[in-house]
Amino acid sequence: MNSVPQHIAIIMDGNGRWAQMRHMPRTVGHAKGAAGVRDLVEFCARKGVKYLTLFAFSTENWSRSEEEVSTLMGLFLNYLEKEIKNLSQAGVRLQVIGDVAGFSQELQERISEALKATAANEGIVLTVAANYGGRWDIVHAVKRWLATQPQPDAQGLTQEEVAKFLSTAHMPDPDLLIRTGGEQRISNFLLWQVTYTELYFTNVLWPEFDPIQMALALEWYQTRQRRFGQAK
Ligand code: IPE
Ligand code: IPE
Ligand code: MG
Repeated sequence: MNSVPQHIAIIMDGNGRWAQMRHMPRTVGHAKGAAGVRDLVEFCARKGVKYLTLFAFSTENWSRSEEEVSTLMGLFLNYLEKEIKNLSQAGVRLQVIGDVAGFSQELQERISEALKATAANEGIVLTVAANYGGRWDIVHAVKRWLATQPQPDAQGLTQEEVAKFLSTAHMPDPDLLIRTGGEQRISNFLLWQVTYTELYFTNVLWPEFDPIQMALALEWYQTRQRRFGQAK
């Protein structure tokens, strides 16, 4: 039986449908979805999870309506301003992965303040993937690797070397990936990193994914037999 996953990654999907089913604008679903994050972070920390990575905004999500994009940016900003104090008191260390240069100046500043404010914390590492894409991550890693090489030699570009330059270099690969909202796809999340991750898909929409649902996912994870390509 597996123990508690060290690293859980989540594709938080289904906010829009949750709201639409209630004849409310999609943005209401995003607000409800964001409000539930604190309980889940605390629950995971209590269970002994070391890393929690949340997919908040993909490189493709810019194609949504201006109203929806600006609501999502506003929620992120609000989260950084209001929630960070609570998270910090709980020992949470925040990380942000993705192309943050694509965000407004104000949001970029809030992000760096929040990173600084929680940098010395030693509890669970909460990584928010924002303007993140798995393909972006890989290309970005190779570009960063090239920039460190005075005379680039492709022989030196090993898997370990690429991994060191990925935005996720601060943590192990996810043990468990959860996707809420019923879709069974990766949608350009951690493409490189999910090589041997256990995949848990649930129809529960993100605004309804509470600690009870998380406990079910953890129970399911414990029943999986991980082989990593070995015969067993
Ligand atoms: C996930 O919920 C949140 C983001 C992608 C930012 P959606 O907004 O994708 O909700 P559905 O999938 O349309 O229900
Ligand atoms: C994935 O959800 C992105 C996030 C949860 C941030 P999407 O709703 O964007 O994915 P698709 O479009 O259904 O694949
Ligand atoms: Mg969706």
